[in-house]
Amino acid sequence: MKIAFVGKGGSGKTTLSSLFIRHLATTGSPVVAVDADINQHLGPALGLDEADAAALPAMGDRLLLIKDYLRGSNPRIASAETMIKTTPPGEGSRLLRVVENNPVYDACARAVELDGGAVRLMVTGPFTEADLGVACYHSKTGAVELCLNHLVDGQSEYIVVDMTAGSDSFASGMFTRFDITFLVAEPTRKGVSVYRQYKEYARDFGVTLKVVGNKVQGQDDIDFLRAEVGDDLLVTVGHSDWVRAMEKGRPPRFEHLEDANRRALQALQSAADATYELRDWEHYTRQMVHFHLKNAQSWGNERTGADLAAQIDPAFVLREAETATA
Ligand SMILES: Nc1ncnc2c1ncn2[C@@H]1O[C@H](COP(=O)(O)OP(=O)(O)OP(=O)(O)O)[C@@H](O)[C@H]1O
Ligand SMILES: [Mg+2]
Repeated sequence: MKIAFVGKGGSGKTTLSSLFIRHLATTGSPVVAVDADINQHLGPALGLDEADAAALPAMGDRLLLIKDYLRGSNPRIASAETMIKTTPPGEGSRLLRVVENNPVYDACARAVELDGGAVRLMVTGPFTEADLGVACYHSKTGAVELCLNHLVDGQSEYIVVDMTAGSDSFASGMFTRFDITFLVAEPTRKGVSVYRQYKEYARDFGVTLKVVGNKVQGQDDIDFLRAEVGDDLLVTVGHSDWVRAMEKGRPPRFEHLEDANRRALQALQSAADATYELRDWEHYTRQMVHFHLKNAQSWGNERTGADLAAQIDPAFVLREAETATA
């Protein structure tokens, strides 16, 4: 299940994704956690100290390796250099699975031990001024988008992405790559304005978007969110002393997380799990083709000097069944 946490800066994306990842780890399900946020804080939020977090390999620095592995023997993709972030898989491409070892995980993922089990953590690497708003070749989130477009994840396997609701993800199609998107919103006008913008982009693409209210202090906050986002409000989270203790560098055992917050995490998982029935791999594949053509036209063809539309394998459908035959 592909799950994104998005929202305004400081709303609590990293905090809630890290809590959700910790929750999933206690269920024994395999989890890949991905930090694609501008502020790279997921590692520390999962308990890594500064040195370990700084030593995490950046996907953004390993784009060529990722592209070379994923393109495999796909005859439509002549080289890693002509592969852009939206280049879709086709016959001969290598697909990724949540549970396996592969050169992409070897190069980009590190195991993080949590109470209840280990997860794999991948990070895009720090963003620079030049990364912000770029819709092109070197985009850091492009590495994540490529992985999502080559991932055949099954039920009860989770990939959780902490990301920014930025123009980059809208230009590329990244925002359509998830089974469910949790939009973290504080009960403020700014918090819900990011929701409105996201909803607007998402409208034509069948994106499942749910709002998670954060830093909610009382009924008035809940009423406000309900009035602003209606039924899209899934659950709310209040101030957590557990989170505060963790931020002080004294993380309590995860089983000591407040009951209400634990129930909220369970509600997130239930909502994510419920989307499994809605999966439509053909639609998912068509969408990646749509965004590939869009990116090819707007900058990709010019940038690579190739006709990137020719990379599309018209007969190919990404699907979970590939797992069984591979
Ligand atoms: N429910 C909560 N209880 C207590 N503290 C919280 C809660 N949610 C968020 N915080 C605190 O608020 C601050 C911002 O949260 P966080 O870093 O998760 O936001 P973010 O959306 O990822 O921000 P950024 O845009 O900078 O990446 C952090 O100090 C975090 O510990
Ligand atoms: Mg963050």
